[in-house]
Amino acid sequence: MTLRVIHGGRGSADLMPGLLITGASEVVTMAGGIRRGDDQDDPAVFRAADVGGTDAPDAPVVACWEGRVVGVGPRDAVVASLAAEGLPASRFARLDADGGTVTPGLVDPHTHLLFAGTREGELRLRQRGAGYLDILAAGGGILSTVAATRAATEDELLAHGRRWLDEMLAHGATTVEVKSGYGLDPATELRLLHVAGTLSEEGPLDVVPTYLGAHAVPPEFRSQPDAADAYVRSIIHDQLPLVAAQGIARFCDVFCEEGIFTVAQSRAVLEAARDVGIEPRLHADEIAPSGGAELAAELGAVSADHLAAPSDEGIDALALAADTDRPVVATLLPATTWFLMAHHYAPARRLIERGVPVALATDFNPGTSPTPNLALVMTVACLELGLTPSEALAAVTVNAAHALGLGEEIGSLEPDRQADLVIWRVPTHLQIPYYPGANLVRTVIKRGQPILERG
Ligand code: NIG
Ligand code: FE
Repeated sequence: MTLRVIHGGRGSADLMPGLLITGASEVVTMAGGIRRGDDQDDPAVFRAADVGGTDAPDAPVVACWEGRVVGVGPRDAVVASLAAEGLPASRFARLDADGGTVTPGLVDPHTHLLFAGTREGELRLRQRGAGYLDILAAGGGILSTVAATRAATEDELLAHGRRWLDEMLAHGATTVEVKSGYGLDPATELRLLHVAGTLSEEGPLDVVPTYLGAHAVPPEFRSQPDAADAYVRSIIHDQLPLVAAQGIARFCDVFCEEGIFTVAQSRAVLEAARDVGIEPRLHADEIAPSGGAELAAELGAVSADHLAAPSDEGIDALALAADTDRPVVATLLPATTWFLMAHHYAPARRLIERGVPVALATDFNPGTSPTPNLALVMTVACLELGLTPSEALAAVTVNAAHALGLGEEIGSLEPDRQADLVIWRVPTHLQIPYYPGANLVRTVIKRGQPILERG
């Protein structure tokens, strides 16, 4: 087995402008927009077996041109229509999927990629019965990562970011949301967002930066009686204006949870962020019903994340929002519930039945979910949330793209979308979650260029 990671995959002039992917058993397009209700289970797939096999004239292909998808469907028809548009077959490099499955590149819409240090000791504490919030209250958890991250240099954070983005890429991710939140002071929060920006510029993956100053109350505020309120004021006056002025965050997130930040504090931060042009998303109802889902709906947040313990009212609020043209995506993080050894998984089936679009993410972070593997998250979602494999794939492609406000750009294979895709070494997408923890990725293509190949 050889693994080749080809960096700097931004497209270079001496390469062919076109790429034609043939030989796929399945091309899963996820075309047709955000998935909700019964549609979440519809992957919009072309199957070679239905048209005479992978060599048949109608066998499904994907054509990319200068970084974008220009054709998906039966081979001869796609090739003829491209030629008619002035894109002759001779200008397309061929890539044989060898009977594999082609899907959109995976989108990981919730990670805490950037931190220093590790927290493997907390696993032992949890095995002995300690709760996540107990460990945090005792100065461990997020706060121990904050201490290590404040002490890390920009170069150290960059090296760490590159290493784990490579792991995410190796498991099929082509776009990754990255939060700050382990600085909790202006200098470190800015450093983290700068590192996220540098990683995105370096490529080949796209990084979507989120400012999470409201991840926890930092130690220097904790001795005050109104510590959380004082820190919220400092976020709004000392951090947000700098983040906004530098244009380095697309979203603002808050850990809205009993014992962390209240709904009122979360609303204050997210409204102040929106006032300076940074859109809200939030950690909502991870551990207990805390009004997070309701707040996400009230603010029209692009996504409400975790939702392992939403109230009935919170689910009602998301269901109401789902009926509008700006639904709040429920981004579920089942690997976190699993790794925390908690037993209340998010009510995914109820959310889907109520028409709420469901996405999945790794939540990659050193405390609650140190996995970079979105395919493994799909497996956990099938086993513990009751998602079908097709629903889980929609959740890490088209719906994950919508959870980042990028649904018109990535997450599906249809004309004009960015040509981000994965060829898997299995004949159907139903097998992606079927082999837990296996790496089934054969080739990753970003902006029409192969950036990873496994021989
Ligand atoms: O999404 N819950 C808050 N934040 C992260 C965990 C962060 C940590 O424990 O370091 C999460 O699970
Ligand atoms: Fe998180």
